[in-house]
Amino acid sequence: MKKLFIIANWKSNKNIRETEEWLHNFSDGFKRNPFSLDNKEVIVAPSFTLLEHANYCSGNLKPPIKLAAQTISPFGEGAFTGEVNGKQIKELADYVIVGHSERRRYFHEDEEIIKKKIEITFKYKLTPILCVSSIEQIINLKSYILNRELIVAYEPLFAIGSGRADTPQNANDMGSKIKEIIDSTPVLYGGSVTSDNVNTFTQMPSISGVLVGKASLDPLEFLEIIKNA
Ligand code: PGA
Repeated sequence: MKKLFIIANWKSNKNIRETEEWLHNFSDGFKRNPFSLDNKEVIVAPSFTLLEHANYCSGNLKPPIKLAAQTISPFGEGAFTGEVNGKQIKELADYVIVGHSERRRYFHEDEEIIKKKIEITFKYKLTPILCVSSIEQIINLKSYILNRELIVAYEPLFAIGSGRADTPQNANDMGSKIKEIIDSTPVLYGGSVTSDNVNTFTQMPSISGVLVGKASLDPLEFLEIIKNA
């Protein structure tokens, strides 16, 4: 059975109380209706202000999740006001989302910044979840990621937050093209994934999971997505 990554990207949503509530409901829901997670790795990416508490609550509740940061400073420790660096993230999370299209679009993250972020993510022994919307973006980053442990998420711009997911066939074609470039890397699909359509993607041979935005904000819907994947 192929390994699947099911990743929740909460984006700029939730406060501490809502994070606690989500983790309680997620853990309770899983205990009430358990299912096999043998081939599934579940990762949740909350905002920086929530990571510490999510980490603390996870210690008590033991939900079957790992944590990710939504971005990382391209710099190390030092005089970089407002930035959260790899050393700080490493205490709380195992993964970092890098290059999400919303960061490229609203925060002007260009290829040079994304390269630095990838390098620093590896430096702090965190695993990047690299988001791309085209083959060119992967080709341009190839020398930074070849033979490294990472996850790639193909997220077509039209499908993000629109309720109009790409077709599983397109996602699979992109998955296999990406794999031709960086061989053994798992490629996920992201963009309007729900519990209804998740398995149309995860059953495709070149797709190894999903990156879920909006539908991951509800813990029971996210559990359903994991179960159906
Ligand atoms: P969406 O977001 O599931 O809300 O479309 C996906 C993403 O941006 O990662």
